[in-house]
Amino acid sequence: MNSHLPVMLDRVRALLRPALDVEGAVLIDATVGRAGHARALLADHPSLALIGIDADETAIAECARLLAADASRVTLVRARYDQIPAIVADLGCPLVRGVLFDLGVSSPQLDDPARGFSYSQDTPLDMRMDRGQSLTAAEVVNTYPAGRLAGVLREYGEERFAARIASAVIRERANEPVTSSARLAEIVRAAIPAAARRSGGNPAKRTFQALRIEVNDELGTLTRAMPAALDALGVGGRIVALAYHSLEDRIVKRELTARSSDRTPPGLPVPLASHRPQFRLLTSGAERPTEHEIAANPRAASARLRAAERVRAAA
Ligand SMILES: C[S@@+](CC[C@H](N)C(=O)[O-])C[C@H]1O[C@@H](n2cnc3c(N)ncnc32)[C@H](O)[C@@H]1O
Repeated sequence: MNSHLPVMLDRVRALLRPALDVEGAVLIDATVGRAGHARALLADHPSLALIGIDADETAIAECARLLAADASRVTLVRARYDQIPAIVADLGCPLVRGVLFDLGVSSPQLDDPARGFSYSQDTPLDMRMDRGQSLTAAEVVNTYPAGRLAGVLREYGEERFAARIASAVIRERANEPVTSSARLAEIVRAAIPAAARRSGGNPAKRTFQALRIEVNDELGTLTRAMPAALDALGVGGRIVALAYHSLEDRIVKRELTARSSDRTPPGLPVPLASHRPQFRLLTSGAERPTEHEIAANPRAASARLRAAERVRAAA
């Protein structure tokens, strides 16, 4: 998450090592960010080729600079990660031996007031990863009807007071559009019961998470991207995914578990060879960062890591 301190880096390296130690191996870093993980993996594997994807043009430009010394084995693509099939096809179907997802927002995005991700600074309500798209957080807040806004806050923010917050936003925006993060944070704070304000950190956190997920269609994109990423991997290839909230972790878990399970219909006397699992899980449950890592990099605190290896080609 933090570009200077890539999250669970040693674990990511160890999990990908057996897959990437192969001549001609290609790694897709689907969220290349500021190349924190990518740089370490390129250093670990001198013949590795990297396809680095990011929806954010600033991230891609920064990666081009950071990875300049390895430019001959790096391909950077500005795209959403659900475009993996088209990207792999365009590049001539390389030997994909690894896929890495380090989901969510990067530290530079959080820290740049112009991007509007942070509720702790007063910023314009933007929150787009891809600034080429038109939907912004301001548009969600100022145009969604109350029911739809409450649904976003409830579903993506797991916000108990979604309906109260949505009503307060609708009231406030009738006077003047809500365009700044500080004003939205204040509306949220005022809308929730006083007792709830005293517990659980900044009350705006869940609302901001929900808006970010909605603006970037994060869950829809990840739901499409996970199967595509698994399909891109050859036998022996490995996937590692770092999620930062339970909604995205659930999508990762569901897909990895489904692909690692026997799909023989119940009731048959023996498992069907064609329905054997294509993957095996490399992690038991979600792995978490150590206390030591969290102390050094508080933004790692919510990370949940899952990984799997392809053991069988697609039928
Ligand atoms: C946590 S950061 C990755 C940090 C990176 N691993 C590093 O070590 O520098 C997540 C990155 O994913 C990108 N991102 C988020 N959603 C995306 C999507 N749907 N498609 C492509 N990139 C996305 C963000 O722009 C951000 O740069």
